[in-house]
Amino acid sequence: MTLQSRAKDVLLGNWMGSFTIPTKKLYPFQWNWDSGFSSLGVSHFNLEYCMQELNSLFTGQWQNGMLPHIIFHSENEKSYFPNHDFWNSAVNIGAPEYPKTSGITQPPVQGFILEELVSRYPKNEKLIEFAKSIYPKILANHRYFYTYRDPNKEGLTFIYHPWESGRDNSPIWDTSMERIEVDPEQLPKYKRRDTSITDADERPTSFQYDRYVYLLELGKKFKYDEPGIFEKSPFLIQDTLMNSVLIKSNQSLINLSKKFGFDTGEVEEWQQQAIPAFREKLWSEELQTFVSYDLREEKKITHKEIGGTAVLFSDIPTTKQANLINDYLVSLNERGFYTCPSFDVDSPLFDSKRYWRGPIWPQMNWLVYKGLLHHGFLETAQMVKNDLITLVDMHGFHEYFESQKSVAKTLQKGYGGGNFSWTAACVLDMLERGNQ
Ligand code: GLC
Repeated sequence: MTLQSRAKDVLLGNWMGSFTIPTKKLYPFQWNWDSGFSSLGVSHFNLEYCMQELNSLFTGQWQNGMLPHIIFHSENEKSYFPNHDFWNSAVNIGAPEYPKTSGITQPPVQGFILEELVSRYPKNEKLIEFAKSIYPKILANHRYFYTYRDPNKEGLTFIYHPWESGRDNSPIWDTSMERIEVDPEQLPKYKRRDTSITDADERPTSFQYDRYVYLLELGKKFKYDEPGIFEKSPFLIQDTLMNSVLIKSNQSLINLSKKFGFDTGEVEEWQQQAIPAFREKLWSEELQTFVSYDLREEKKITHKEIGGTAVLFSDIPTTKQANLINDYLVSLNERGFYTCPSFDVDSPLFDSKRYWRGPIWPQMNWLVYKGLLHHGFLETAQMVKNDLITLVDMHGFHEYFESQKSVAKTLQKGYGGGNFSWTAACVLDMLERGNQ
């Protein structure tokens, strides 16, 4: 069986009739950015599913425009933690009654995914009509970010929970998370589900989990309304990945608007402020990469990690910055790592096995691969693509993978959940599309 057909089977196996779950057991609902990648994957063999995927996702959109990070289409999976009851999105009057959702968001990938789809099927009338109908919903999500997540009007939006960044337990959050004082008596009792399904040493620690729950409770206390959260949250970060994905998707909305004859004014205005602000505030001369910014401490979070590398995917880096990121990736390969490890391999905090602290994440490879192509680094792009395909071929369609080559060859499988949707989607897209 070819890798393509295996990828297709994984996606079909996770298809729930109108949306895709990331993987069975571990993540049994629809996740925001996972769903973007899944729609891209299924588009290679079923455009109907692709459109249904995105339509289902937006049934969870809130009145303020926010697209939540989890859409609980079914309320049966009670044992998932935190489930819809725990999130209790109903505290916010703008949250839909059905489907229930979480109260935080994730990187807004839908803009650039839509542009990919439109450029791939420019003559498919149904797809074009669909694109025009979903465009305002994507725009509303972007407007939400600039209205509620950028109170100082800097052009850079904040997150108040590590889960929003998509990189849950990255060491870049450690210092900010350690600052949070948690009184265990005040925390609601909870039982994690992830560690009963996969190995605990591949997952976040319980110290981190208590703080995730603390921040969730804080959001709920403020009815998931931003002004209170902005004022009180001990965790408040302008994240590289969140902002660069938003900027990339803004650009896609501008490109699509031009095609569809829509007005581009509002999005152009965001871009004009956001791109220079990002370049100026989030570049670390010391590390020669982009870094996130801690708004509570008012300082850069000086660690090299995948969010900074993936900025390459957007038009943000100057030629010089793009060259430096490319050189860094090449050097990792020369030093015996698969590209692109999620965290700095030279840091004492690097852990090639534990979730976002060092392993390879397929969707991040896809972003970096596209970024390398975009900036003209064709050879490095090929390397990043080959690394992912090699790992999947060797270890299956897992959630994430060992990044040290010497260790990877001693293993039988990847890490975290198996038969994972975005892994299948990204591999399928890379194989089907060639270097476009
Ligand atoms: C984990 C990942 C997050 C992803 C989710 C579902 O929480 O960190 O990025 O969206 O799983 O796959």
